[in-house]
Amino acid sequence: MSQISLNDSLTLPCGAVLKNRIAKSAMSENMANQDYTPNEKFQNLYHTWATGGAGLLITGNVMCDKRYLGEPKNVVIENGFLGIDELKKWAQSGIINQTHLWMQINHPGKQSPKFLTKEPVSASAIALKSPLDKMFNPPRALDEKEIYDIIERFTFAAITAKKAGFTGVQIHGAHGYLINQFLSPLHNSRQDQWGGSLTNRMRLVLEIYKSMRAALGGQFPIGIKLNSADFQKGGFTEEESLEVVKVLAAEKIDLIEISGGSYEAPEMMGSKKESTIKREAYFLEYCEKIRKEVTVPLMLTGGFRSREGMESALKSNACDVVGLARSVALDPNFPNEILRGQNVLSKVKQLTTGIKAIDKAMPLEIIWYADQIHRLGKMKNTNPNAHPLLSVVKTLFASGLEGLKRVRAK
Ligand SMILES: Cc1cc2nc3c(=O)[nH]c(=O)nc-3n(C[C@H](O)[C@H](O)[C@H](O)COP(=O)(O)O)c2cc1C
Repeated sequence: MSQISLNDSLTLPCGAVLKNRIAKSAMSENMANQDYTPNEKFQNLYHTWATGGAGLLITGNVMCDKRYLGEPKNVVIENGFLGIDELKKWAQSGIINQTHLWMQINHPGKQSPKFLTKEPVSASAIALKSPLDKMFNPPRALDEKEIYDIIERFTFAAITAKKAGFTGVQIHGAHGYLINQFLSPLHNSRQDQWGGSLTNRMRLVLEIYKSMRAALGGQFPIGIKLNSADFQKGGFTEEESLEVVKVLAAEKIDLIEISGGSYEAPEMMGSKKESTIKREAYFLEYCEKIRKEVTVPLMLTGGFRSREGMESALKSNACDVVGLARSVALDPNFPNEILRGQNVLSKVKQLTTGIKAIDKAMPLEIIWYADQIHRLGKMKNTNPNAHPLLSVVKTLFASGLEGLKRVRAK
């Protein structure tokens, strides 16, 4: 057992210091302007979270190519980006109280919905399985020139984040998005240097990391969110994930956030395993395994709801930082209460619209919590009693409108 407490600071390999062991994990804000730039709502939201006590705030996924969005109203940073002033204001709002603010950078690959992308791209031309094939068009395989372009795009977004005043960046390598698609043998059947062996499948993420490190220097924090596994037969396994962790650790990555799953197997939003429910954190056992092999700082996200659960993960040495998402979308002050030693419990609970078919067909957790985030962006209090069905109706309406706008714009 270690004596580390949630209030202790953490020095990362690059020398940066996190003031405590609680991080707000990435949650897509979905409230950018029409031209994909951030706005005042981002400042309100991150000011609120930076007041809430977490030592590290990780932004929702910022896309690096406007042709391929994960969700409507994503912020996009690519060549010709016009929102640097707004980006600076966003950064300023999130770094108050000595809080670290890292930008999560992502490319959705084939997890870009039909109403946003006619022909998504991926490692290989392998479509998402039913019923997701109704919501996502089949992808085409990227050619090598495009892969190098994506490496440059991730790097450009990271450089822009640093220029704007963000204090770090995180590569989104989890949840079934493009980097994860390359890592997974189920989604990557390439026969060139980007597919086949694990060394080849991890080439994309490694090249992105190296390119960012070369551009940002040795003293700027770079992290990654990585799956413990895909939880699909024939997918990315824990053993493979551990190999990727070892390689990135040897390259001096600053923080590895462990999550798991994808749209096809959404384990990141909850596990039904009895042992996991008892221990709160969904991917705790995997973290314990990697901890035996590497000393790189580990952040564990998914399922934390109590101070006891967080402290025990830290004290057992499974991780160095605990990541919270839904809890802080509902209660931005939750980290402060935990750090004060209060025995508070997160208000996160099982959501249902009351209609089973809708609960199954829609990413209910995402859209309901996104509504709470939007309330914070408008400086309103969250509404734990909001009916999930209302969020579903609003989302369907907004997606329809977005699709229509894109058809008209063509
Ligand atoms: C509304 C919402 C949006 C999310 N967006 C992202 C995202 O942009 N990037 C990411 O890595 N994870 C995203 N997640 C997943 C969370 O970071 C986290 O892994 C997951 O919610 C489990 O943590 P929790 O149990 O503390 O909520 C999102 C989750 C929610 C609820």
